[in-house]
Amino acid sequence: MNKYLTILLFGQLWGCSQPTTKPQPSTSNPDSLATQLEELREKYRPGLGEIMGGIQTHHAKLWFAGINNNWKLADYEIAEIKERIEEAAEIETNRPEVKTISMIYPAIDSVANSIRQQNLAAFKNNFQVLTNTCNTCHVANHFEFNVITIPTAPPVYNQDFKAQVK
Ligand code: HEC
Repeated sequence: MNKYLTILLFGQLWGCSQPTTKPQPSTSNPDSLATQLEELREKYRPGLGEIMGGIQTHHAKLWFAGINNNWKLADYEIAEIKERIEEAAEIETNRPEVKTISMIYPAIDSVANSIRQQNLAAFKNNFQVLTNTCNTCHVANHFEFNVITIPTAPPVYNQDFKAQVK
């Protein structure tokens, strides 16, 4: 037999007889699937600090939208804040702090009302109350060093906070 053919045949036989050693994910085992899912959720779940960072930006944008009488944008920003707070309450269940997070809802609702009424004076007052409540929660949770203020400058340079006239 041709030398090369022998090598080729032997190689193929040897290859076939090898057991597949690569571990296969056991998708048929519901327990292991649940564990894998839990691991993934834990890995990709945003942390409370990250969610708060998002809230901080919306808080600043909300102020500049409001003082510019841009009520549509203000309405969008307060809704975003509410969504993030709800998200934190829903997914950060391993953080004891989120038990106190609901203290912010009345302040959010007051801001939303003044936006609906397009009442600038009420908006400014309610925004201050909202900001105080952010800080009350930080103090209550030993994050008193994290002080939120009324912003003195827009948080970004690439967004127009004035209402668009059409
Ligand atoms: C549970 C009550 C609670 C409320 C209400 C709350 N926070 Fe927080 N906030 C926290 C906690 C706890 C942390 C620390 C999270 C961490 O990093 O683990 C935090 C952290 C932060 C941070 C730090 C993030 C950073 O990277 O510097 C900012 C900014 C922040 N909050 C803004 C706000 C603003 C703005 C509001 C109000 C609109 C608000 N928070 C309302 C509890 C709260």
